[in-house]
Amino acid sequence: MSTSLPTFTFESTADEVATALADNIKGKNVLITGTSLNGIGFEAARVIANRILYYTSDSPTPNMSTLPTFTFESTADEVAIALADNIKGKNVLITGTSLNGIGFEAARVIAKYANLVIITGYNDQRQVPFLTLQVFLPLKALASLKLSEAAIKQETPSANIRRLTLDLSSLAAVRKAAAEVNTYPEPHIDVLIHNAAAAVGPFKLTADGFESQMATSFIGPFLLTKLIAPKLLSASAKSGSTPRVVYLSSMAHVFGPGVTVTLDLLKKPDAGRYNAVTAYAEAKAAAILTAAEISRRSKGKILGFSLHPGVIHTNINQAPDAIPVMQSVGILTPRGVRSEDRAHRRLHVKATRVTRRVALSPTHLRRLPNAVYSKLKHGKLPATARRRRRASTPHSEHEDFNWKTIEQGAATTITAAFDPRIESAPGAYLDDSNVATDKVVAQTSSLDPVAASELWITTEELVGEKFEF
Ligand SMILES: NC(=O)c1ccc[n+]([C@@H]2O[C@H](COP(=O)([O-])OP(=O)(O)OC[C@H]3O[C@@H](n4cnc5c(N)ncnc54)[C@H](OP(=O)(O)O)[C@@H]3O)[C@@H](O)[C@H]2O)c1
Repeated sequence: MSTSLPTFTFESTADEVATALADNIKGKNVLITGTSLNGIGFEAARVIANRILYYTSDSPTPNMSTLPTFTFESTADEVAIALADNIKGKNVLITGTSLNGIGFEAARVIAKYANLVIITGYNDQRQVPFLTLQVFLPLKALASLKLSEAAIKQETPSANIRRLTLDLSSLAAVRKAAAEVNTYPEPHIDVLIHNAAAAVGPFKLTADGFESQMATSFIGPFLLTKLIAPKLLSASAKSGSTPRVVYLSSMAHVFGPGVTVTLDLLKKPDAGRYNAVTAYAEAKAAAILTAAEISRRSKGKILGFSLHPGVIHTNINQAPDAIPVMQSVGILTPRGVRSEDRAHRRLHVKATRVTRRVALSPTHLRRLPNAVYSKLKHGKLPATARRRRRASTPHSEHEDFNWKTIEQGAATTITAAFDPRIESAPGAYLDDSNVATDKVVAQTSSLDPVAASELWITTEELVGEKFEF
């Protein structure tokens, strides 16, 4: 056994060493002193705790030798073809499935193989823009959720699609939708994909008094998970597979010094302390923390995964409120198109200098993730992020963001939902369809189990529900 162990070097990380020594960590009781955040002791404790957790879930090891390796370029269709056996027969609920979004693309692909795909929209009466209708269907004034269903059925007539009206920004609406799900005849749901997110924009309070981005992208999904947990937990008994909850997060954590959730703002939002980008990053940090926490608290009965889908031109960065914010961080050019070539970048750097003077105070600026802060302050990413991007995209012409197509953008969702190879890594964060938890934890506190637990308890209090596994 020990002959197969690698040699460790100066460059080796605690995660790499722990992965190699996983069999030796398994089952151990460990006491470690001096474990404050940002210290070596914390990092060691985190890595050891993850391995103890990972290896205490006694999931059977499937035969995975024939599965291909997925990359940045992989599309959702390619991943689903490879994982078709793992999708077959599953009941899947995916939120936020509007045309031109990652959720729709994931639902479209899953529907080819799954037993049931429940798609959701928050207003079944809402009409979609004329142009979208022209692209997908003849001119019929369908509401967006019906349009998504029709587009999937047009491609896969045998697909079993069910529409669910779900407004995640309202606790009452979430309760109503969950009650409907709990009356479905299917005894279990195998996979719940939290894809929906509020558009990034100005400060808004919901009817329940929460900040709108946090309410829609985190608090509503938390309550939904709690209310349909019995359906998820029956999956193991009914279909023999461990249920999964997938949380769409973001890349904000790859670069920054640590985006964490400000609990006092979660409980009592404050317009004076609001920053649209920070609120988005906090909602995405909450997704990473919760994916790990649900795996820990359920002791592997539910597998939570979070992921960064890539940077993709979808509805979210074209919403009117979002455009100025996307321009200020360089995702869109001053003309509102994708920031993807040198000419656009030069214009964008000039624009961000202006934007930062008018839009963001110094206090707000310093609360942003490092990559965004650095871009706004210096017009470029931090050196580590630039090196990382150059290494991963040697031939890319994209100066600022390495864009994916929507087809590529939904690939990691399919992996997180169905790939049997990640069963041994509950709570993991995925990027480019591979486990990339080290990208989160190397420089942020987003996987800090204490922060995750505090967030969990606070959110249970806010929604007035307590999980039982
Ligand atoms: N695109 C990217 O570059 C990128 C990068 C990192 C992470 N992500 C994440 O990926 C996920 C999918 O985003 P996307 O890019 O595909 O954008 P999108 O198409 O705008 O998807 C967001 C979905 O959430 C829905 N939604 C908004 N408010 C809602 C509410 N109150 N209740 C229920 N649903 C609501 C939207 O519905 P309507 O269309 O009807 O408003 C839409 O279907 C999001 O979590 C996003 O944060 C995207």
